[in-house]
Amino acid sequence: MKLQDARVLLTGASGGIGAAMDHALRQAGAKVLGVSRSPQASVPGRHWVRADLNDPRDIEHVAESCAVLDINVVVHAAGESGFGALQTLDAARMQHVLQTNLLSPMLLTQALLPQLQRQPQAQIVFVGSALGAIGLPGFSLYGASKAGVHRFAESLRRELSDTPVQVQLLAPRSTRTAFNSGEAEAYNRATGTASDSPETVAQALVGLIRDEAAERYIGWPERLAARLNGAVGPLLDGSFDKHRRHLTQTNAIQGATS
Ligand SMILES: NC(=O)c1ccc[n+]([C@@H]2O[C@H](COP(=O)([O-])OP(=O)(O)OC[C@H]3O[C@@H](n4cnc5c(N)ncnc54)[C@H](OP(=O)(O)O)[C@@H]3O)[C@@H](O)[C@H]2O)c1
Repeated sequence: MKLQDARVLLTGASGGIGAAMDHALRQAGAKVLGVSRSPQASVPGRHWVRADLNDPRDIEHVAESCAVLDINVVVHAAGESGFGALQTLDAARMQHVLQTNLLSPMLLTQALLPQLQRQPQAQIVFVGSALGAIGLPGFSLYGASKAGVHRFAESLRRELSDTPVQVQLLAPRSTRTAFNSGEAEAYNRATGTASDSPETVAQALVGLIRDEAAERYIGWPERLAARLNGAVGPLLDGSFDKHRRHLTQTNAIQGATS
């Protein structure tokens, strides 16, 4: 779709990646309806709706705003991080991350689908993650939530293939935003994990909407790793010893100081 024709609902618009996406989309000529729980300053050409996407009443409210603005593109960028060894994660946190990253985008999509199907052309972009395609120590919760997003997007893409609604996946690798805690940053440094600026991710989104491709991974090593992992996953297990060791050391230090 031409960006000038796009009227975009952007969740997570107050976040590091979302704010860059908001800017890049408007620069490219799209209109944007941003969503977040925190109030945002008003900007010319951008609408805003305040909503907690984990609350079904707020999802209804967002759907009503989308109808008013005749939204034809949805970008699911809201998300929560869930870094940590499984033993350090409590049940409430696990439920919250799974709901925010997986269930809420599914329910919002369901609520918006009737109006998107009435458009001559519509696009739904899910922001997944390289960690949705490849499981790393410390990312069992987050990776599970994003793997769910990847499979949901793939199923829906095939389910809607004879409709005007195209489903797409954007999978960033680590990106320099407040999303990553100090511990996650230390893990990235210790394991030599590459990272991008939010602007790089935002430009990839603009390209994905324009090109109408099914999916895009950011970073060629991550794209290759995702492919290899899908084909011969268990053979790669030993490649992540460094990641496991860093996580184990961090837990040992935390255990000793608590
Ligand atoms: N940063 C990375 O390394 C990285 C890598 C790969 C993929 N991703 C994915 O990219 C997306 C954006 O990440 P980011 O780095 O921009 O994260 P971020 O800076 O922490 O922003 C998260 C956004 O999600 C919104 N949000 C969270 N829970 C919400 C809820 N219940 N209702 C409404 N909005 C909610 C936040 O808005 P409020 O708090 O204002 O409500 C904020 O706008 C996420 O899906 C993340 O999983 C990130």
